[in-house]
Amino acid sequence: MEAAVVDETRLEELMGQVVGYMTGGAMCFGMWLGDELGLYGVLTDIGPTTADELAAKAGCHPRLVREWLDGQVAGGLVAWDADHDTYALTPEATMALADEGSPAFVARAMNALGSLFIDLPKVTEAFRSDGALSWGDHHPCLFSGTEWLFRAGYRAELPGWISALDGVEETLTGGGTVADVGCGHGASAIVVAQSFPHARVTGFDFHGPSVETARTRALEAGVADRTRFEVADAKGYDGTFDLICFFDCLHDMGDPVGIARHAREHLADGGTVLLVEPFAIDGRAANIAENPMAALLYTASSSICTPNSLSQEVGLGLGAQAGEARLAEVFEEAGFSSFRRAAETPLNLVLEAKV
Ligand SMILES: C[S@@+](CC[C@H](N)C(=O)[O-])C[C@H]1O[C@@H](n2cnc3c(N)ncnc32)[C@H](O)[C@@H]1O
Repeated sequence: MEAAVVDETRLEELMGQVVGYMTGGAMCFGMWLGDELGLYGVLTDIGPTTADELAAKAGCHPRLVREWLDGQVAGGLVAWDADHDTYALTPEATMALADEGSPAFVARAMNALGSLFIDLPKVTEAFRSDGALSWGDHHPCLFSGTEWLFRAGYRAELPGWISALDGVEETLTGGGTVADVGCGHGASAIVVAQSFPHARVTGFDFHGPSVETARTRALEAGVADRTRFEVADAKGYDGTFDLICFFDCLHDMGDPVGIARHAREHLADGGTVLLVEPFAIDGRAANIAENPMAALLYTASSSICTPNSLSQEVGLGLGAQAGEARLAEVFEEAGFSSFRRAAETPLNLVLEAKV
C-alpha cells in the first residue's frame, strides 16, 4: 500500500484547530469551576481585586485561585490590571458568567458539557451495544446543565414565541390551559406561568427527580399556585389543553409520531402545539456545512439525545439536528393538517402545529 501523502500545511492547520478545541474544553471546565465555587459572583460583588482577596472572600485556596484567574485572563473572560495585579469582570462578562438573571448567563450550562465527559463509560457502552442510554441514567449535572443552558433563552424569547402563534396569546391572557411535555426542571413552564398569570400550566416529564426540582423551582418563582408538575411519559398524560409545548425534547423521545398523536388527542378544540427544537438547516449536507451549531449539536446528540430515543419504544432516533422538513413529516403522520415555522433564533426552530 502506498503511503498517504501528508500536506504539512493542512496538518498544521488541523493541529491548530485541535488545540483550539482543547482550549475551549478547558475554558468550559474553568467556567464550570468558577461558577461552582462562586468565584464570578464574588468577583462581581467586590469589584477589581487581587487573587488573594478573591480567594479569601470565596473561601478558596489562594494559589489555586491565582492560577485559575490567569487562565481566565488568558482565555479572555476576566480582565486584569497588570499594574495593580487586580482582576475584574467587564459588564458583559458579568452577564455571561455571574448574573443568574441575565439573558446571557451561560456559566452554569457548563454542567451539561461536563456530563459528556463524566458519562464517557456509559456512552461508549451504548455505542458498542444497542445504542441506548436513558436520560435518567446520566450524571445529574446533565439535568441542571440543561436547565441553565435553556433557561436564559426561554426567559428572553418564550413570550415572543407565543405571540408568534396564531391566537394563542389571546387565549392564555384570559386563562387557558398549557401542557409542557418533557418539562425537565420546569424552566419553560415557569416562564409561561409568569407571562400568563391566568393560565394553568402542567409540566410532564418521565424523569422523577426532574419533576421534583421543577416543583421546587415553581415555589421559588412564586408560581406554584398555577403550575403543576407530574411524572408522566409523553404518551401517558391525561387532560385537555389549549397549548401543548415540547421544548427541546421531542427529538430526544423514542416515538415522536406517537407522542405528537397523543398531543393531538389531548388538544382542546382549536388548540395548538408549540414545538421548539434546536436550530438546523434542512438537508444533512447543508446543515453540516452551514450551521455554526452543527458540530456541537451533532456531538451532544450522538451521546445524549439519540441514545435516549433509542432507549425508548420505537427508538426513531430523530437526533437533535432533524430540521423542519423532517419534523413536519412527523406531525403530518400524526394527523396534523398545518405545520409552520412561527419564529427562529440562531439556536432554535419555533414551530406551530394545528389539527
Ligand atoms: C433536553 S431535556 C429538555 C428539558 C426541558 N424541556 C428544557 O427545555 O429544559 C429533555 C427532557 O425530555 C424528557 N423526556 C425524554 N423522554 C421522555 C418521555 N418519553 N416522556 C416524557 N419525558 C421525556 C427528559 O426527562 C428531559 O427532561
